[in-house]
Amino acid sequence: MTIVKDKIQELRAALHRHNYNYYILNTPEISDIEFDRMMRELQKLEEEHPEYYDEHSPSVRIGSDLNKNFTQVPHKYPMLSLSNTYSEEEVADFYDRTYKALNEDFEICCELKYDGTSISLTYENGKLVRAVTRGDGEKGDDVTDNVKTIRTIPLVLHGNTYPPSFEIRGEILLPWTVFEELNKEREAKEESLFANPRNAASGTLKLQNSSVVASRKLDAYLYYLLGDQLPCNGHYENLHEAAGWGFKISEATCKCSSLEEVFLFIDYWNVERKNLPVATDGIVLKVNNLLQQKNLGFTAKSPRWAIAYKFQAERALTRLNKVTYQVGRTGTVTPVANLEPVQLSGTTVKRASLHNADIIEGLDLYVGDMVYVEKGGEIIPKITEVDVTARGFMPGEKVMFITHCPECGSKLVRYESEAAHYCPNETACPPQIKGKIEHFISRKAMNIDGLGPETVDLFYKLGLVKNTADLYQLTVDDIKDLDRMGMKSAENIINGINKSKEAPFERAVFALGIRFVGETVAKKIARSFASIDEIAEAGLDALTSIDEIGEKIARSIQHYFSDTSNRQLVDRLKKAGLQLYRTEEDAGNYSDKLAGQSIVISGVFTHFSRDEYKEMIERNGGKNIGSISPKTSFILAGENMGPAKREKAAKLGIRIVGEDEFLTIIS
Ligand code: IVH
Repeated sequence: MTIVKDKIQELRAALHRHNYNYYILNTPEISDIEFDRMMRELQKLEEEHPEYYDEHSPSVRIGSDLNKNFTQVPHKYPMLSLSNTYSEEEVADFYDRTYKALNEDFEICCELKYDGTSISLTYENGKLVRAVTRGDGEKGDDVTDNVKTIRTIPLVLHGNTYPPSFEIRGEILLPWTVFEELNKEREAKEESLFANPRNAASGTLKLQNSSVVASRKLDAYLYYLLGDQLPCNGHYENLHEAAGWGFKISEATCKCSSLEEVFLFIDYWNVERKNLPVATDGIVLKVNNLLQQKNLGFTAKSPRWAIAYKFQAERALTRLNKVTYQVGRTGTVTPVANLEPVQLSGTTVKRASLHNADIIEGLDLYVGDMVYVEKGGEIIPKITEVDVTARGFMPGEKVMFITHCPECGSKLVRYESEAAHYCPNETACPPQIKGKIEHFISRKAMNIDGLGPETVDLFYKLGLVKNTADLYQLTVDDIKDLDRMGMKSAENIINGINKSKEAPFERAVFALGIRFVGETVAKKIARSFASIDEIAEAGLDALTSIDEIGEKIARSIQHYFSDTSNRQLVDRLKKAGLQLYRTEEDAGNYSDKLAGQSIVISGVFTHFSRDEYKEMIERNGGKNIGSISPKTSFILAGENMGPAKREKAAKLGIRIVGEDEFLTIIS
């Protein structure tokens, strides 16, 4: 046994080292293939020997599927902001003010201002114990499990010179390349785009599923060390020590002893930052000496010993040629400004989003206007201002939001309290029809192999498929001679379509694409009704009595079934053989025995795996949560539940349920 334990420890140590070499030093010693092989070996051994589970193992970076509600944690030291300026004079004022207050020489540590989402990490005895978002500055969300998937954040520190307990703060970032890829994928799926990498990073950090977080390749720079026993009395020196413990500290950090040096740093990075892989929006100036920092102190909101100099967003002046409108798969109509091409931050800008009717109204736009476009941190440029002085006596036509759908001519609607206009013609407006079919075939819905958006587009254009039910009438002969198809692909597609009939009830409900009925809602509905007919007939009370289904969703479901063409479509899908009813297998699998209960899983199990228990909780109507809080109903505990968790459970009076007892509860 000890041989296995030694092997596991050896692999963990090696993988920690290779992670560090690869992600921090950028000098990998082994190939990616070799790294993956070692990781797989470790995962296999860990699976076979759960008794050696370690929450700091490098394998936890792969993430778990646990669904979490984040717990709020108070910050030991409040997370303050920095006072901002866009003006060089104010930087000089800050410098003079600091000199007057200290009445002695001082050094300034200049750093880049990273434009991501801030994080506070707590390390105890060299191990990452907690990662908390900024929240409201006093308390933040505990996102430890998600942060553990970020490879540039060490789980275990190097050496032995770190303080026994300390916090380190920094910025979590989504690199530009990952951001662009992510938005491309979202665009293809007609999901709303992230406006900038900052939103994408904070959105990612708040995801419920840490394996998705792991796949997003977040990065992190650390820039602020806090604690009672820091190694040095200079901020810059402490950061360098922290680099030696394994943290990623920006190389663009410089100690300056005069205002001239500070401006040289600003001027250099104002240009060079465009070549960085992550977004930055300014420079942070910090008085370096910790004693001097202490003497300068804080205002209510920010330290007096630091200031942020923000870069001016780049903008360009160009002509508005016309405004066109795009219709998304859910019918949302988005106005797009078509511009005279202009260079901005290294790319040619031809189009800018105008978002909605209110934005157009606020800008008071006329066709032919000279407009300022800005990129700022955003990838999609926006119009920030109109140069009214360039308008002349004969301005073009005033831009008025359209009243009818540019695709199908239907009169647009705008729901109360929503900014967007919609085309209500869900069943006959071309982009909406195609969007519905694309949603229907997608992985989490009917998961039809071999069919993608381009093929759907082709089938639609040729009139082969006008709705989802038409898919089930396609034959190999109908499609085998189409462009770039052939016999084999045609057979694959038809097989994929036929196989999709086996998709369980909840996926078929989700696949219908009813507005506001996402994956989770579809599951809840499918577990509460025996068939699609029951759902179609359900009254408002029956629908809203289901957990998490409010009036908005209920009305949307009723609206869907009040449309005869939707009812006809569902009938055809039923006839085609889709499982639009609860099967015996489904029924046997579900219960509401754990309804309304929030359950934490902890420890190592013998009868089933963690994932299997997680699934059982969900199938019985319970909720998996990540950490113990007063809201926890009980803890499903296996062997080796940590002492800290036991203590917390005892303190809050939370019941601990063993494996056998749990299985009896749900049996
Ligand atoms: S120091 C007490 N250094 O800017 C001050 N902040 O407006 C602690 N930021 O919330 C922050 N780069 O998210 C510091 N090099 C840097 C930074 C930085 C980005 C962010 C951080 C903070 C915000 C302040």
